[in-house]
Amino acid sequence: MAFRQKHLLGIEPLHPEEIKTVLDVADTYVDLNRQSNKHSDALKGLTQINMFFENSTRTQASFELAGKRLGADVMNMAMQASSIKKGETLIDTALTLNAMHPDLLVVRHPHSGAVDLLAQKVNCAVLNAGDGKHEHPTQALLDALTIRRAKGRLHRLNIAICGDITHSRVARSNLILLGKMENRVRLVGPPTLVPQQFREFGCEIYDDMAEGLKDVDVVMMLRLQKERMDGGFIPSEREYFYRYGLDADKLAHAKPDAIVMHPGPMNRGVEIDGTIADDINRSVIQEQVEMGVAVRMAAMDLLARNLKAEREANNGVMV
Ligand code: NCD
Repeated sequence: MAFRQKHLLGIEPLHPEEIKTVLDVADTYVDLNRQSNKHSDALKGLTQINMFFENSTRTQASFELAGKRLGADVMNMAMQASSIKKGETLIDTALTLNAMHPDLLVVRHPHSGAVDLLAQKVNCAVLNAGDGKHEHPTQALLDALTIRRAKGRLHRLNIAICGDITHSRVARSNLILLGKMENRVRLVGPPTLVPQQFREFGCEIYDDMAEGLKDVDVVMMLRLQKERMDGGFIPSEREYFYRYGLDADKLAHAKPDAIVMHPGPMNRGVEIDGTIADDINRSVIQEQVEMGVAVRMAAMDLLARNLKAEREANNGVMV
């Protein structure tokens, strides 16, 4: 099976075949998750530690459930109460945990690059659960699986990613993944939140929703990441909703069967109208959450296979 990675730090290092492998394995876990007995022993005997240095609801819950369903021993570190608060550095914390022999480390951190740095210091598989404005690979993979299942394919689609692109690791990882799979991606939002340098990813940029959404197959909305803004990026939330919030009128410019996505958490009435978010004929937001568990099971399963193979090659010694 084509998946050669030791860690899952971003979409950037992945080959399109590796992306396809993760999605194919995830499809099998979607089936498992719909059974009464959701257990597999793919991670039996392994220890998974979740370290979330930033708030998270669905990503942390999803990784925890994924590990438990695959039979791992899962520990959630309460980072708010950890020694980081006493001044210990990220690396010291990582080395301390490393001494407890985890096999999978799931890390979310507010600084771009922090998870890569940590991966260099430990001898287990590291999964990036979101690092600053950099990458959020499992989000892009779960979005890809949701699109592939809804549209029957993951290539030659027109996809609009809308809103706060500047501050979004979700946008970056999605742009990279959708580009690798040969889709046409448009970025739509106010110029303050959609920098022109994103053109280097080969996408088109629009500051008008009617034009940007014209005939697209997928509309992906993003949250206004206020916690990362240090100034006036938008005039007011009311004005923002009027120009860029997804409502029925704006969605009417997309293809009649276009799907609506949002990674959550949503600000209803800011970037998306509540009625659209809840419309089961258009919105796949709940499917995204379901796919999230399956994709994280697939990613950890594949990384664990590589870890075990590497250890076997080293006569069972931890690598
Ligand atoms: C995203 C994140 O944390 O980057 N959320 C998520 O993982 N589901 C997007 C966001 O916070 O807006």
